[in-house]
Amino acid sequence: MYSEKTVLTGIKPTGTPHLGNMVGAVKPVIELSSQAKRAYVFIADLHALNAVRDSKAINRNTYEIAATFLALGLDTTKAALFRQSDIPEVYALSTLLMNVTGKGLMNRSHAYKAVVDRNTEKGDDPDAGVNMGLFTYPTLMAADILLYNADVVPVGQDQKQHVEFARDISGSFNHIYNKQILSMPEPVIQETANAIPGLDGRKMSKSYDNYIPIFAEPGQLKKSVMRIVTDSKLPNEPKDPDTSTIFQLYQNFATADQIAFMRSSFVKGKMGYGDAKNLLLEAITVYLEKPRETYETLLAQPEKLDEILAQGAAMARISAKRTLEKVTKAMLGRSPSY
Ligand code: TRP
Repeated sequence: MYSEKTVLTGIKPTGTPHLGNMVGAVKPVIELSSQAKRAYVFIADLHALNAVRDSKAINRNTYEIAATFLALGLDTTKAALFRQSDIPEVYALSTLLMNVTGKGLMNRSHAYKAVVDRNTEKGDDPDAGVNMGLFTYPTLMAADILLYNADVVPVGQDQKQHVEFARDISGSFNHIYNKQILSMPEPVIQETANAIPGLDGRKMSKSYDNYIPIFAEPGQLKKSVMRIVTDSKLPNEPKDPDTSTIFQLYQNFATADQIAFMRSSFVKGKMGYGDAKNLLLEAITVYLEKPRETYETLLAQPEKLDEILAQGAAMARISAKRTLEKVTKAMLGRSPSY
């Protein structure tokens, strides 16, 4: 189904990847990339800039995300893994696309509107604290997507609107310049179906501070698992596996037999939460043993990661140059001279 498609996604380097990201985003993106004709997976460092002013943090998170994708099996012979900021064409395309992007479209962006609503509620100027990076965020994202002719864009529900904006912008461009130059990307929504619960039972998320980093230190992992909130049912009371955070997490890491065993033990009132947590800890540890080794080896060699990211950028630039050339020709009647 995806064998003729170009799959693309970006991940903002604004936090250490957690198990929710792994199950809801990293693994599905790796899976989609392996089925696709071509794939682009980039660290969206330019998109972090409207909020993050700490270049060290951006770099550290970039390495963590790159190492996570590699450790969990992204095939870099097929997928270009790179830093967004390594592609000069994306800055250029973003500026060019500004001219076919309605300001009204940007006004409707959920992310921007949320800030305006918060400001208005507080009685502040509606645009207080809004920089142009935030306001034009969707235009840069459209440039990301359209530069590589992406057909399929796996994203979380919160990013669906941005992919729809990329479609709008592509449509206006193709209409105004009367050419089918830019692609019509389709969002593929990943997160909702797979969202996994965090320590407090709400969706695992950085903003709730209820997450377990994928490659947490063993001691930290144990602490996190032991912190998972449960009800106060005793070991011999029957429990509903489908509302248990422990069981829901367990399903992502254990074998079919192990999952069936925990399910029936819960239903029959034959397992307490303490034992279940130990099984979960064990399953996560086993599942991530090999990837952890790769992850740690890579993080200890940032020059190696830089090299992989530079190779990915070189791969990505082939398509980027081609698209920018076509767009510049259509808009300015000539090819860029660089
Ligand atoms: N905005 C996305 C997020 O916050 C990250 C992103 C940047 C992206 N560019 C992209 C996702 C292009 C998909 C395609 O999660």
